[in-house]
This record gives sequence, C-alpha cells and structure tokens, in this order.
Amino acid sequence: MSIKNICCIGAGYVGGPTMAVIAQKCPHINVTVVDINKERIAAWNNDDLSSLPVFEPGLDLIIKEARGRNLFFSSNVEESIDKADMIFISVNTPTKTYGKGKGMAADLKYIELCARQIASVSKNNKIVVEKSTLPVRTASAIKNILDNTGNGVQFQILSNPEFLAEGTAVNDLLMPDRVLIGGDNTKEGQKAVNQLVEIYSNWVPKNKILTTNVWSSELSKLTANAFLAQRVSSINAMSEICEKTGADINEVAQAIGMDSRIGPKFLKASVGFGGSCFQKDILNLVYIAKSYGLDEVADYWEQVIIMNEHQKQRFSDNIVQTLFNTVSGKKIAFLGWAFKKDTNDTRESAAIKVADNLLSERALVSVYDPKVKKERIYADLENLKTRSDEENKTLLKVHTNAYEACKDSHAIAVLTEWDEFVNYDWAKIHKAMQKPAFIFDGRGILNKDLLENIGFSYYKIGSGY
Ligand code: UDX
Ligand code: ADP
Repeated sequence: MSIKNICCIGAGYVGGPTMAVIAQKCPHINVTVVDINKERIAAWNNDDLSSLPVFEPGLDLIIKEARGRNLFFSSNVEESIDKADMIFISVNTPTKTYGKGKGMAADLKYIELCARQIASVSKNNKIVVEKSTLPVRTASAIKNILDNTGNGVQFQILSNPEFLAEGTAVNDLLMPDRVLIGGDNTKEGQKAVNQLVEIYSNWVPKNKILTTNVWSSELSKLTANAFLAQRVSSINAMSEICEKTGADINEVAQAIGMDSRIGPKFLKASVGFGGSCFQKDILNLVYIAKSYGLDEVADYWEQVIIMNEHQKQRFSDNIVQTLFNTVSGKKIAFLGWAFKKDTNDTRESAAIKVADNLLSERALVSVYDPKVKKERIYADLENLKTRSDEENKTLLKVHTNAYEACKDSHAIAVLTEWDEFVNYDWAKIHKAMQKPAFIFDGRGILNKDLLENIGFSYYKIGSGY
C-alpha cells in the first residue's frame, strides 16, 4: 500500500524545506507540516514569500508551487497525526541544560512528547520516521513509548536522517548525495522501509538510496557531522600555524585538497564553525562514548570542539591586541551574524561569541547581516546572560545598511562569508572610517591587495604576513 498522507511534526529548518520538496516531487501525497509554535506556522502560511520563517535560496518557489495543493502548514497537531499513514518527527533535540548529561547529551524531551502524542492519537497502524538527529538507539526508546502507551495499533520506526546543509538545502534535497533509511530487519520493518524508498524514488535515483539497520542509520548521521566538523577544526588548527610561519591557509588547503584521498571540499579556514548540528552532535557523540566507558574516543572527538572554541577566542583576542590592546569605546563593525552565508540561522554562530568577547572589553559593536533580524541578534546575546539586555542594546547596534555599520568604525570584522561583502565599494568604506582602518577577515573572502592599496591594515584568518 502506498503512502497517501504524511504528517511532519516540527516546521523548522529541517522539517519545512524537507517536506516542501517531498510535496513538490510527490503531488499524489498530501503533506501536512505541524508545529506547536503558532507564529511559525502563520509565517509558513504567509502570502509574502519573502517572510517565510526559514530563508533558503529557491525555497519560496517550491512553497509557491505546492502550498495549498498538497502541502499544508497547520498547528492542529493531533488532527494531522490522526490522518497520516507516515509521521516524520523533525523536532529540535538541543543539548541538555540540566541534570545528567548537562552540556553534552541530547535533550530528548521534545521527541518523547511527540512519541506520547502519536501513541495517544493513533487509531490505525503508522510508520514513524526519525528525521531529527538522534543518539544511537533512540528508536528503541520511541518504540517503547509507542508500544506501551498506544491504543494497540502497530508502529514501525524508521531512521531517515537529513543531511541537508543550510543555505543549500533545496539543492541538497533535490539532488542528495544519498538518502539513508534504517529499518528493522523484520518483514513489517522492511515493508515500511520500502514504502519510504518508494517516496524518495520519485526523484532520487535508486542507487543513491541506501538502506541499513536502524542503529547504523542513527550513528551514520552523528558520524558524518563529526567528520565534517573535524575537517573544519583541522584546517583551523593549521590556520594558526600558518599565521605564525608565513604560510597561507588557502594555498595549503588547495595543495592538500588536490590529493584525491583528501578532496577539496570543507577545507575553508574560518572564525569557527557554527550551526545547530556540529557542536551538538559531537557533544552527543562524546557523551555516548563516555557512557560506554570509551574515554579515549570521547577525548578524541571533544578536541574538535575545544579547537573550535579556541578559534573564536583567538579571533577576538587578535582584534583587541591589534587595536593597541584596547577596544574600549571603539566602534567595531561586524559584517555578518549568520553562522554561514545564505541562511538567516544564527544558532551557535561564531559571531555571537566574538561579539560577546568584544562587548566584555567594552567595544561598541555595530552589526550588519543581510538576512538576520535585529531581534534575533539581541536574543542571541541575551541567551548568553553575560550582561543585561539593556547593556547589550547600549553597546551593540544593528544596522540595515553595511556602509552605515562601518561608518566611523576603527575596525571591520568579517564573520559570515556573504557574497555581497566582496563587491562593496571598499574605498568609500575606508574613507568613512577612523584611521588606521583595520579589517579582520574571519572568512578569508576579501581581496588583500585591493584593500591594502586602499590603505587598510588587512588581517586574514590563516595568513600571517
Ligand atoms: C551541517 C552538515 O553539513 C549537514 O550535512 C547536516 O545535515 C547539518 O549540519 P550546516 O550546519 O547547515 O550543515 O552547514 P555546513 O555547511 O556544514 O557548515 C557548518 C559550519 O562550518 C558553518 O559555520 C560553516 O561556515 C563552517 N565551515 C564549513 C567552515 O568553517 N569551513 C568549511 O570549509 C566548511
Ligand atoms: P531543526 O533545525 O532541527 O529543524 P528547529 O528548532 O528549527 O530545528 O525546528 C524544530 C521545530 O519543532 C520548532 O519549530 C518547534 O516548535 C517544533 N516542536 C518541538 N516540539 C514539538 C511538538 N511536541 N509538537 C510540534 N512541534 C514541536
């Protein structure tokens, strides 16, 4: 029997775009995305497609095509669970902030709530798909809840982790490197796997759809993120050596990336990785390793996080040191606040930590980001609880124009690699700044020769001379 009704619980950065693409590619399936956050649902239903809660290039056109046809956004969670043959769980799994595993383990309370709700509402057999990144063996916890609190109906649990990267989500979903589906090795389990394979087969070549057991699928997602983050920390570690020795990290990256065993991707030195996944998933991996007594494994992966924290810290330290050891009362302009370009997401963005460090030195920070809203920036700082909201708002100003943000500043720090920064009128910016005018390029995107000719003192991450 083919799937006719899908419900996705969680209308976030993963649930929203993923379901939009499934709906676009499977017009014969009704897809309803639900969320307890009514404002978010209202934003997904907004007529103005530039106000969707998630900014992703190309997503607006997909929403335009499918919304109201076979794609629906609703806050009526129970009704759409009831109607669905297949339910995706795509809720957040933040790092625990309390109790055992605090600061490391994934907090599964939202997952558990979903499982309980699915169990209590379901009146017929359903397939439950884990879309959120989860610790290995979570499926058995979900199954336990479903089987013990349900109405006697059968549930099949599949793991189908999402590998999309923000900023390129639409392309990643339309042309994934692979789709991973983990299921039970029973007849019923394999039947459920095949039903999900059938959905993806509408646009993904069969040889890219990989089926495994549930545990391999869950662990593969954590492993992929750990390997990717490790690559960034590795290149960032080398960037510090470059700065001391006169090597250039872009040249080193090019040289090693031409080795086909290493490959050229994910070798861009930066002010530190951010995003909702890398740190959370590695901490989760560290916690899992520790809970099995695998201390060496835990220490090995924890170092990836330690390196990332160091990279952010040394970026802000370098700004303070270069500005004659004091930034107190000096205006420092931030270009970018998002954790990477082409997204409005700021979770774990390096900009937050760098700003916090500079504000503690009493710098006056002015921020420009093409997609991040002012309220989000202040909320990010408030979450740190380093100082009062009032103080943050006095010391940090948010601008909607990059030239205004840079005007009268002593230094500019590039925190996100937005394409538009490269082509700014840098001579005009220089003219309006305090002298000497400094640029700290945390993404290595600007043209050193051009900027130095204009008169800037230019510092690029991973290049010392
Ligand atoms: C990541 C994984 O790539 C994706 O497969 C998974 O589903 C979710 O986590 P995402 O966090 O959206 O995706 O973005 P990604 O492109 O991986 O970038 C993560 C961070 O690493 C960003 O802050 C980015 O700027 C940084 N990064 C990435 C670098 O600093 N250098 C690089 O070479 C690549
Ligand atoms: P991700 O990046 O993984 O998509 P987000 O935080 O952007 O994470 O989205 C997760 C969404 O899940 C949030 O919008 C949140 O309101 C929603 N959510 C969490 N728990 C529930 C629940 N029990 N029922 C419905 N929605 C939920």
